Amino acid sequence: MKLWSGRFSKSTDSFVDEFNASLPVDKHLYKHDIRGSIAHARMLAKQGIIAEKEAAQIVDGLEAILREIEDGVFVFDIADEDIHMSVEMALIEKIGSVGGKLHTGRSRNDQVALDTRMFLKDAIVEVNAEIAALQTELTEVAKREIAAVMPGYTHLQRAQPVLFSHHMMAYFWMLRRDFTRFKACFKHADVMPLGSAALAGTTYPIDMDFIADELGFKRVSNNSLDAVSDRDFIIEFHAASAMLMMHLSRFAEELIIWSSAEFSFIELDDAYTTGSSIMPQKKNADVAELIRGKTGRAYGNLMQLLTTMKGLPLAYNKDMQEDKEGMLDSIATVKNSLIGMKGMISTMMIHSEVMRQAAEGGFTNATELADYLAAKGVPFRDAHHITGVLVKKAIEEGCWLVDFSIEEFQEQSLLIEDDVYDVLNIDNAVKRRNVRGGTAPERVREQIEKAEKLLEKEERWLDERK
Ligand code: ARG
Repeated sequence: MKLWSGRFSKSTDSFVDEFNASLPVDKHLYKHDIRGSIAHARMLAKQGIIAEKEAAQIVDGLEAILREIEDGVFVFDIADEDIHMSVEMALIEKIGSVGGKLHTGRSRNDQVALDTRMFLKDAIVEVNAEIAALQTELTEVAKREIAAVMPGYTHLQRAQPVLFSHHMMAYFWMLRRDFTRFKACFKHADVMPLGSAALAGTTYPIDMDFIADELGFKRVSNNSLDAVSDRDFIIEFHAASAMLMMHLSRFAEELIIWSSAEFSFIELDDAYTTGSSIMPQKKNADVAELIRGKTGRAYGNLMQLLTTMKGLPLAYNKDMQEDKEGMLDSIATVKNSLIGMKGMISTMMIHSEVMRQAAEGGFTNATELADYLAAKGVPFRDAHHITGVLVKKAIEEGCWLVDFSIEEFQEQSLLIEDDVYDVLNIDNAVKRRNVRGGTAPERVREQIEKAEKLLEKEERWLDERK
């Protein structure tokens, strides 16, 4: 029998039982549901709404149900609809009608908002822990390979030489922004809605601050209608996840390109690659490809929930039950993608000689020559043109700029002197980019130090919430 069967004279169609149920999804929220109910029962007793003895019975019953679920012996019945009613039914079965007092002053509408907020807060801490772990790994790789030079690209054409460590640290800063975006989501999820009841607030003298304290919430909601209608915190989680996955996807794409035979800048470890069932020579970057591919899920989940929420009148509507599947999916997607990325980064082999050769070729030092002429008073546009002519000549002759004799340089400009060879040297080109945030080794070291301080800050944020 349903907990709400009083006004019905027929039982639900079995199709409706299945279609209506969220249990297969929200049973994953069992721990938070039970913790929330325990806090609620204690509050009811403290406020004299139920007797202490009754609350103690309810709490014991809930704890026993928690153990049963954890031991895998609890039987979920789809006809119970959702985790809230599964637990409540089981409680009444276990301790008798006193179990029916648990739902006093509460509705499933504020209960589901509470559970989801608690669940997502925990998930955000786990996601941010994985972000920090990947950031730590990037910092380690950057330190280990501080001096390796590679071509930097624009339009995927060789542009200017950069340090490989600089390239790795670029992802550190993207992840830093992701971390702060998830922190902001945490703050918006950290609002305790219980007491809003179905929509209008409860008539019982409940103590919202007590529940917030018990469950580790910083704030309580200010408007009962908003509190049961709000899913912004999940949408924000999706938005932050979509952005994070976009970053990881770009990184994955680079790893795929770099590990191709055509580039050979890196080799991914055997443990993070897979073979082909037909081509014996293949070693495929499946983990990177899946991270890139799974990005679509994160975007999809964001679109799904935005669309589900659009146009819903206040307050609760059953449409909102569609919020949890995507949430669970995005949590798993981002966590696994971060773990996979960290695994690839920490085990990959870096071919710094190949990178250096690529950086020495491809005219990545052409800007150096233009800057050199400009420094001697040639207007930059003319310097650009002279250099372009020399590049064209080199391409025709099948050589690089450094292969020209000083006479050949001087055919284009008499201002070019012997010191041009130092200027064209790619290590010097890197060193000279000594602006804040530039690729000069000194600046990359400075970046890494700053990054390590931020990592300590992130660890403190995580420690306070674990
Ligand atoms: N299973 C529901 C959900 O996930 C819980 C809230 C149901 N409330 C209601 N009035 N039907 O959204």
